[in-house]
Amino acid sequence: MNQEMKIPQHIAIIMDGNGRWAKQRGKDRSEGHFAGMMALRATVKAAAEIGVKYLTVYAFSTENWGRPQAEVDALMELVCTGVEMNTPELCQEGVRVEIIGDRSRFSQKVNDALDRITGKTAQGERMTLALALNYSSRSEITHAMQQLAQKVANGELQPQDIDEQAISQSLYTASMPDPDLIIRTSGECRLSNFMMWQASYSEFYFTDVLWPDFGAEALEEAIKAYNERDRRYGLVK
Ligand code: IPE
Ligand code: IPE
Ligand code: MG
Repeated sequence: MNQEMKIPQHIAIIMDGNGRWAKQRGKDRSEGHFAGMMALRATVKAAAEIGVKYLTVYAFSTENWGRPQAEVDALMELVCTGVEMNTPELCQEGVRVEIIGDRSRFSQKVNDALDRITGKTAQGERMTLALALNYSSRSEITHAMQQLAQKVANGELQPQDIDEQAISQSLYTASMPDPDLIIRTSGECRLSNFMMWQASYSEFYFTDVLWPDFGAEALEEAIKAYNERDRRYGLVK
């Protein structure tokens, strides 16, 4: 990659199109999800090599529970398989894994796998990989509001102290900067309940590439497009 290129500090990806990728090949949707996991593996490696500091990926939304039970089960199984397959490499690559989303709805088995991957990669300093699982922006904001309201009720916080920083600090993403670049694959141009607060000044990049076909090359394309953008933040240059 060109040395002059600005590298986004935080890239967030809405990994979409696994089902269509599988359908095009006459395969089951679950095979598309497996191929998607392999694409994630390649993308994480590429992002860390490029020098991205935070990579957030939308892997399972609160709405995705409404899919056929067999698909939900396959996705939950894939979380466990993904942890087993990728933890050693993530440790080697210095990637620290964090989970954003409401973990209370996951089975003990899935939560144990998530504890393993976050525990074993905790020392990683090269890049943080945030997996958005049972995540939605509205549920995240609702959860944050409940926490702040509780603090007010306890007398620990005054209503006038609820400022933008207090809200940001109550979100699952409290420890991360806002995403500079949000990528969505598969040609859909919507957020689907992803990072609505954090995306205030993010640059958006939509590509027709289906998620299982994404990787180092497609990531570089997105970063090139990001370099063409003029981020003004409401100001006059
Ligand atoms: C994204 O791929 C993965 C998840 C939402 C879990 P999809 O499964 O949404 O694939 P399409 O959109 O049906 O092609
Ligand atoms: C968004 O994709 C959620 C994830 C990528 C995990 P969906 O496929 O669920 O979103 P819609 O249904 O196209 O909006
Ligand atoms: Mg989809």
